[in-house]
Amino acid sequence: MCVCVRGMEGPSTMSCINPQGKLCRSVWKGLILGILLTSFFILLYSYTTPPLSLSSTENPTVFSCFSSSVHESSKLSNMKNSSSLVVPTLPNCRPQKNLMFLKTHKTGSSTILNILFRYGQKHHLRFAFPHGRNDFDYPGYFQRTLVEGYRPEACFNIICNHMRYQHSEVRPILPSDAVFVTVLRDPALLFESSFQYFAKLAPLTWAIPGSGNKQKMDIFLQSPLSYYDSSGYNAHYLHNLQMFDLGYDSELDAKDPKVMQALKELDERFHLVMMLDYFDESLLLLRNLMCWEMEDILYFKLNARKSAYGSRLSPELYQMAQNWNALDTLVYNHFNATFWKKVEEYGSEKMKQDVLELQRKNELLKQECIAGGGPVDASKIKESWLQPWQPLGENVIVGYNLRKNISAQHKQLCRNMLTPEIQYMRQLGADLWVTQLWASIRAFFKW
Ligand SMILES: *[C@@H]1O[C@H](CO)[C@@H](O)[C@H](O)[C@H]1NC(C)=O
Ligand SMILES: *[C@@H]1O[C@H](CO)[C@@H](O)[C@H](O)[C@H]1NC(C)=O
Ligand SMILES: *[C@@H]1O[C@H](CO)[C@@H](O)[C@H](O)[C@H]1NC(C)=O
Repeated sequence: MCVCVRGMEGPSTMSCINPQGKLCRSVWKGLILGILLTSFFILLYSYTTPPLSLSSTENPTVFSCFSSSVHESSKLSNMKNSSSLVVPTLPNCRPQKNLMFLKTHKTGSSTILNILFRYGQKHHLRFAFPHGRNDFDYPGYFQRTLVEGYRPEACFNIICNHMRYQHSEVRPILPSDAVFVTVLRDPALLFESSFQYFAKLAPLTWAIPGSGNKQKMDIFLQSPLSYYDSSGYNAHYLHNLQMFDLGYDSELDAKDPKVMQALKELDERFHLVMMLDYFDESLLLLRNLMCWEMEDILYFKLNARKSAYGSRLSPELYQMAQNWNALDTLVYNHFNATFWKKVEEYGSEKMKQDVLELQRKNELLKQECIAGGGPVDASKIKESWLQPWQPLGENVIVGYNLRKNISAQHKQLCRNMLTPEIQYMRQLGADLWVTQLWASIRAFFKW
């Protein structure tokens, strides 16, 4: 029951109160709608007006991609040779600073981003950030005008936020010697993870019977076509998501000749395709390719779910998930094969030893940096700066607390390694007002 009374002050002050004295549901709804509409119009406004360049101090290294270091491209010719994509780590190899990292969804890419943020910060590199938010208008295609501070001829060192890839738009804003990297994951496990994370945001899952995402996913996989609608809002999260992120039509039949064409294109574009399933090996290949130090690729798992350890797919469901994502499976198998070829070129024995070394260093740092030695529930994170971003309506992403007495040498490194993506981007000078507005709306309504 909702009663609206006219206030004493005049006709413009109406208040709607239910018998318990609380504001009515309909009023809350109106309020939410109002806020969302307002933010929408502000957003629209910000996209239709050229951004004011108030922060010109922030762009110390604006350079054009055409004039950039010719002498650095000698190494590129080496990398272009597809049979020797892995540049051997010579003691005198030149560290690479220009990188395109295609951040795919649910592939451990937040952990990789932290590595790139640290490297960029240490070497004062220029990031191509989106403006307002932490993705480039995903699921729309990437456009270079979405880059904060973009102008024709602008050039950046690193681009690494979520996007739907479009090569013709990415290529011009990076120097010619930029290294192109992405990361893939076993498509059945990716599907499982994506379904758990995004089901609520894809209305087509609302009609699937069953309580909870796990049960819904099982039912969905039994007969996907009776629930799936490729034109549904956010439907792309539930079908060949990797192909979608890579910029291709994720509804293609796996036998379509366009698929082979896509594989060929990807082979030519990406110097390295990492695998979440072989994460440490992937990072070592990245380090080798970029000629970075071991310290540069140390990491703690970020943005992980509470129960992320181990898939809960039965062998039957695993097979069904692969069949449903046949296109992604094809792409994955192709790059899994090239991945292991690269490991062989690196030296299988050397790889094993380097993986152990990396794990040992990570472990040591974990002991020093992390209170309790491991991740904790979000509610137990003491410092709000270290709170990870949560999916809507859930508190499932775990985070960390910093230990108190970290050695002076590692104090900053520890903090950086534990800083979640959004906070790190702000620290690097990204303007995330849309994300932050959304965060405050959510905090207000406790979503
Ligand atoms: C490419 O690599 C192959 C095999 O390692 C080598 O024989 C060939 O000379 C290289 N080509 C160039 C242009 O470096
Ligand atoms: C990837 O390739 C390796 C080596 O061929 C193989 O052992 C592994 O099972 C493959 N991984 C998946 C998930 O298919
Ligand atoms: C930190 O404090 C604990 C207990 O007070 C002590 O055992 C440990 O040695 C200290 N570690 C460092 C790196 O100072």
